[in-house]
Amino acid sequence: MRMILMGPPGAGKGTQAKVLAQRFGIPHISSGDLLRDAARRRTPMGVQAKRYMDRGELVPDNILLGSIEERLHGPDCATGFILDGFPRTLAQAEALDKMLAGMGAKLENVISIKVPRDEVVKRISGRRTCRNCGALYHVIFDPPTNPGLCNKCNAELFQRDDDQEDTVLARLEVYERATAPLLDAYRRASVLREVNGIGSQDQVLARVLEQVQTGG
Ligand code: AP5
Repeated sequence: MRMILMGPPGAGKGTQAKVLAQRFGIPHISSGDLLRDAARRRTPMGVQAKRYMDRGELVPDNILLGSIEERLHGPDCATGFILDGFPRTLAQAEALDKMLAGMGAKLENVISIKVPRDEVVKRISGRRTCRNCGALYHVIFDPPTNPGLCNKCNAELFQRDDDQEDTVLARLEVYERATAPLLDAYRRASVLREVNGIGSQDQVLARVLEQVQTGG
């Protein structure tokens, strides 16, 4: 199954994608995670990308698209994948269409998680991520058992560099300007399914699963 999860920063895309990936046995491909990993390893691509990420801006396609395409050709993607955070613009959606056509594959699900701005700001400001395994927590909505430590691997939790208030507001503005037109395009093409992202993680998961088409 090939799925795109869309939604504003902090909507819960990563949270839901991790569970869906386990349930369907397919990889979770987060463009943000790919870029953060490259930045952490200080690869040339990562160093360039970090400059944009720290300002809350989109990383240019000439920096990002190659690594997405390479990832989609990984052997673990043969039966499907969940894309989280990609595509985010009409141009990226066209690039994805071409990549999929080249692989003889087709997209089955485009799901958008809808969460209002005040809620995403609360979610992002309390988000903590495990430095080792990437597990996600929230200091109020989903706190770890031991503050600052991951329940799964006991490693340190950290706050993302781009989760500072100014950068979050810039990311929300970019979402409205660059990604909303893509949502409109998927809506017009009748492939978009929208899910209310307010409620517990399990409630949102149940709504997403109701919308998932497993294809054949
Ligand atoms: P990216 O990493 O993709 O960030 P984002 O889209 O801004 O999304 P987030 O990761 O912030 O949020 P999420 O929706 O995954 O929420 P989460 O599950 O963590 O991108 C970062 C940057 O990389 C971009 O700004 C850009 O610079 C660059 N980039 C990435 N992709 C790009 C692209 N395609 N093109 C160009 N540049 C690109 O949840 C958030 C918090 O809420 C967590 O604490 C979680 O525990 C909590 N939570 C989750 N669900 C619930 C719930 N139901 N109730 C209460 N709390 C909840």
